[in-house]
Amino acid sequence: MIAKHLLYTMNSSSKIRFGILGCSRVAQKGMLPAICGSGMAELGMIGSRSAEKAKEISSRFNCTAFGTYEDVINNKKIDAVYVSLPNGLHEKWSIKATEAGKHVLCEKPATTSYASAKRMVASARKNKTRLLEGYMFRYHPQHAKAISLIKEGILGELIRFEGVFGYPMPERSSTMMQKELSGGSFYGSAGYPVSASRMVFNEEPISVFCRLIIDSESGVDIKTEIMLEYPNNKFALASSVFGSYFQSTYSVLGTKACVRVARAYAVPKDRKTKIFLDADDEVREIGIEPADHFQIMLEDFFKEILRGAEGSKKYEDELLLQARVMEAAKLSDKEKRIVKISEIQ
Ligand SMILES: NC(=O)c1ccc[n+]([C@@H]2O[C@H](COP(=O)([O-])OP(=O)(O)OC[C@H]3O[C@@H](n4cnc5c(N)ncnc54)[C@H](OP(=O)(O)O)[C@@H]3O)[C@@H](O)[C@H]2O)c1
Repeated sequence: MIAKHLLYTMNSSSKIRFGILGCSRVAQKGMLPAICGSGMAELGMIGSRSAEKAKEISSRFNCTAFGTYEDVINNKKIDAVYVSLPNGLHEKWSIKATEAGKHVLCEKPATTSYASAKRMVASARKNKTRLLEGYMFRYHPQHAKAISLIKEGILGELIRFEGVFGYPMPERSSTMMQKELSGGSFYGSAGYPVSASRMVFNEEPISVFCRLIIDSESGVDIKTEIMLEYPNNKFALASSVFGSYFQSTYSVLGTKACVRVARAYAVPKDRKTKIFLDADDEVREIGIEPADHFQIMLEDFFKEILRGAEGSKKYEDELLLQARVMEAAKLSDKEKRIVKISEIQ
């Protein structure tokens, strides 16, 4: 049964009609193909600052409607929107969308502060819409496999997590290098290993220490090192770097074994991935079949929207928890001290 508050937004074909805010690289490479490949959704409208670009992307993805961001938000036939604008614009457009009754899948980091996360979630809850942060890597089956090894006790007691997301320096013109759009490695990439450590430990950290290295030319941080303390003396190191050899990995060390997810965060949908289990002086390779984590997350979101008030996924709580840890990390770098997560209210 479709929940009451959805009746007015669902279109007659009972597929979810998705609108796009911003023809970003990630929209074109990951999300638009995933929407078009999903039997649960229709691409309802493309929004761009540029009419020409909106028209071109619409025709590439067989979408008949296009316009400005406002046009998408004001279109009564649209049920949900995908926000993949520069980080500094996520709050503004997500709130406009939720106020117009749209469900929102907002790219990561959904917010650049805990206060902003609280405003976004409050608006979604007030307007009875769902709000999901786009950490799609979490939906790749390889993490369920790594977590099942942990749950089976193969690693013994968990001791530490180490995750790195690093890649060559982005072009100076990239939105990732624009301070005024909240670019930089902290917002752009550090959230991945932090999110992965929270997922793998299945707990929230107690405190955090963070250090950012700033690029003098652009003013954005190009290196982030975060140390998180978890309950029972577990620690996580989360690093993100602009200007390194490509790394998109994490490992978890336990008393009996170590597991490493070789390609953890940015995973092309046609790529087989590998998990390495190091135990008893032997390294076992576990192959994982290719998976499109954009599509898997999207379908989870659609199913949850269709469940309406009966939905059980805690998307909004998860967004708040991640934002709280990142806020503590930001404060740690600013004040050059360890920050307890409980300080962030
Ligand atoms: N989950 C993932 O796997 C993943 C991967 C990469 C990036 N991301 C996230 O997705 C978001 C977009 O990243 P991206 O690298 O794809 O971005 P991008 O290619 O730079 O695109 C950003 C888009 O935002 C719009 N925009 C609005 N105001 C803008 C401004 N002042 N300057 C530049 N663009 C502006 C533009 O769309 P129009 O011109 O069409 O309006 C532009 O295409 C970021 O939040 C990023 O963190 C997520």
